[in-house]
Amino acid sequence: MSADNQFGMFHSDPADAMPDSTCPASETAQAFKPFSAEYLQNPYQFFDKARESEPVFYSPEYNYWVVLKYDDIATVYRDPETYSPLNARHPVTPICPAAAKIRDQQNLAIEPSLVDESSATHKHHRKIFGTAFTPKRVNQMEDRIRAIVDRYIDRFIGDGHAELVSQLLYEVPALAIFLFLGASDEDAVFVKKLGSDRAIVNWGSPTETEQVAMMHGMGEHWQFTKDLVDRAYRNPGDNYLGDLIRIHHDDPSLFTINYLYNVMFLMQFAGHETTTQASANGLRHLLTDREQWELLCAQPDLIENAVEEILRIDSSIFGWRRITTRESTLGGVTIPKGARILMMMGSGNHDEDMFPNGAKFDATRRNAKKHLGLGLGAHFCMGAPLARLEMRVILEQLTRRLPSLHLVDDQSWNYLPTLVFRGVQKLEVEWTT
Ligand code: HEM
Repeated sequence: MSADNQFGMFHSDPADAMPDSTCPASETAQAFKPFSAEYLQNPYQFFDKARESEPVFYSPEYNYWVVLKYDDIATVYRDPETYSPLNARHPVTPICPAAAKIRDQQNLAIEPSLVDESSATHKHHRKIFGTAFTPKRVNQMEDRIRAIVDRYIDRFIGDGHAELVSQLLYEVPALAIFLFLGASDEDAVFVKKLGSDRAIVNWGSPTETEQVAMMHGMGEHWQFTKDLVDRAYRNPGDNYLGDLIRIHHDDPSLFTINYLYNVMFLMQFAGHETTTQASANGLRHLLTDREQWELLCAQPDLIENAVEEILRIDSSIFGWRRITTRESTLGGVTIPKGARILMMMGSGNHDEDMFPNGAKFDATRRNAKKHLGLGLGAHFCMGAPLARLEMRVILEQLTRRLPSLHLVDDQSWNYLPTLVFRGVQKLEVEWTT
């Protein structure tokens, strides 16, 4: 393994998550229980208190320096040299020996790619892959995404009730990214299930049995990705992956085919699970705050800003990681070299110094777009234009076609147990037919 991916995907050192018993935990650190049912239901209560009492704190239990204020998170994001993203996909829970054995049998040639790549090579790759992600390619998707959303709504509109995650939000973003990359609809559903597993393997707290089962899935997904790229290599289509293959044919020195496998492997996860969960969180907020829903029904031109407000108030990635390459200072606290940083963007996005009345959904909020839900700086979400487009179209079609939509009373809210992803798993709704 190269020095660069010693913190990479699917690899871990069992010492990783060992509690550091030499360092006493502050009161805030003791209260930080990121996998507890209470926190998963509502981490914002913890964030609000911790931002006041100890906005940068060390958790010996998880071995993370947790950063909660908007400005401090922005500082980390803006300086990838000091705060390296190498550990962004490092398993939060160490991979057990049985799962590691399966991983090693699968020939996964994972290498750092964009999201966890060091500055030296990231700049070069981001330029190529980001430039190919053209507005033209994204805009071409609008009519097709709208047709997909309508097709799904047509299936349940006569019923008067639906579970919106499984009946709409789960599959639509997967179909959209698959269209973008040039893969088929049937494969989208297969890959979708593997996406949730990936969130748990890298960022969750899976049992050893779950790790073993999920690691088999990672092998299948890797092979699927290689086949997708190899087919496109022989016959590049009129899509983003086809564009990348043409770039490679013109100048093979720009990136290797293995690197392309890796970016496609990344995008098949980053490109839909996040959008599914952000849309689900947003609809939960909008339907809870009925006035806001009605405002969007009456003034659809506000939907674009409402998408930003969703990504602010309850984004699907509410935390992200970095590792320090030298000693640094954050919020007056000295952070040693080699320290693992956990930026809680969900907290920064509710920071009253940046967003007054931050817990309130406000579709007209002027600075909503300053949220940290898509990151910031050199690694800012490359798929942001597509994610924004999908979320806007979903909201436009739902407000237009189902303005009487409301939440079924007394439902419980379930969230995947992960350190950084947040998305309500079920959304029972009703409307008058
Ligand atoms: C609501 C949906 C989405 C959310 C909340 C989200 C969030 C994020 C965040 C927080 C990062 C890390 C930023 C950083 O480290 O500074 C990121 C990176 C990335 N995202 Fe997204 N994302 C979403 C949708 C998408 C989509 C649809 C795609 C692909 C089409 C995508 C592709 C990527 C890629 C390739 C990166 C790595 C960029 C780099 O490091 O240069 N994302 N995203």
